[in-house]
Amino acid sequence: MSKTLFPRTLSIAPMLDWTDRHYRHMARQITRHTWLYTEMIHAGAVVHGDPQRFLAKHECENPVALQLGGSDPELLAKAAKIATQFDYDEINLNCGCPSPRVQKGAFGACLMGDVDLVAGCLNAMQNAAPDCEITVKHRIGIDKQSEYQVVADFVGTLREKTACRTFIVHARNAWLDGLSPKENREIPPLKYDFVYQLKRDFADLNIIINGGIKTNDEIAQHLQHVDGVMVGREAYHNPMLMRDWDRQFYGDTLPEIRLDELVARLHTYASQQIQLNQGTTLRHMARHYLGLTHGLQGAKIWRRMLSDADLLKTNRADLILQAWQQVQNDIQTA
Ligand SMILES: Cc1cc2nc3c(=O)[nH]c(=O)nc-3n(C[C@H](O)[C@H](O)[C@H](O)COP(=O)(O)O)c2cc1C
Repeated sequence: MSKTLFPRTLSIAPMLDWTDRHYRHMARQITRHTWLYTEMIHAGAVVHGDPQRFLAKHECENPVALQLGGSDPELLAKAAKIATQFDYDEINLNCGCPSPRVQKGAFGACLMGDVDLVAGCLNAMQNAAPDCEITVKHRIGIDKQSEYQVVADFVGTLREKTACRTFIVHARNAWLDGLSPKENREIPPLKYDFVYQLKRDFADLNIIINGGIKTNDEIAQHLQHVDGVMVGREAYHNPMLMRDWDRQFYGDTLPEIRLDELVARLHTYASQQIQLNQGTTLRHMARHYLGLTHGLQGAKIWRRMLSDADLLKTNRADLILQAWQQVQNDIQTA
């Protein structure tokens, strides 16, 4: 069985192009207990492509979940089996992505319209990876479905027909027509009470709430009603939000990481990655570090230096330390 020690009280959402292994490495320096999720990776890419390229991760990342996209049970099973060689603690099926490209492939959010197919996918994945927890991330409905019963039936059916016991619920509908993926994260209204009701109706399930959650106070509030909170955009744009989480939500007693210590660790990591000479450049990593000084004096200089194309071209990890020095200078002269 999974060797994971911590519950999913908190998790960082899967975000395409954002939660790659470099972001996850950084997040893990800030919080030891929070669950991390990969970007969605299509099962076909894992099966027909180079699994090492798509699934390799840093050993520090656990607890970490792989999110797969797809709707072909056989392909998903093959991908899940391959993933068992990479030490993921969970494999999650995406039933929430509304992008037109994903719809064309008939997976993501449109899977909510075919719960039996979802059950088939989850069962196939579970059979292929019997020691790994298989979970699902979904919305509360698609298009104009507005009844609580829609999501209750979806969850209830999966509870009955599969071994899935963890449901990550983005608390808004996916509108499959007419909205961009970005708009689909903003326009359909959030209905947190639907997610709370799921927990009341299915007390034995692990219900994780997601969508629009930005502060520790909001997290604490949601935890009164559900088992866990998943945070996406805010944890990306303001990663130091995670600094308090181990102590506040997991009862850890170790001190929070200081920003200067984190910068030093990121510098070491970036140096090592560049030295490996496997195609990772400073730009691949530094783009995830831009939000670290969010709200601080010197934030502008930090962002400017770490996103300057000419400076990044030198591909020297020392740029991270130089940018940090400039932040210090800015604070001193303020
Ligand atoms: C850039 C970006 C990429 C995303 N990619 C994925 C993805 O690959 N899989 C997924 O399930 N959700 C994806 N999402 C949705 C998030 O996981 C999350 O459900 C959504 O952002 C709402 O949470 P938040 O308000 O805390 O950001 C993405 C969101 C963003 C902003």
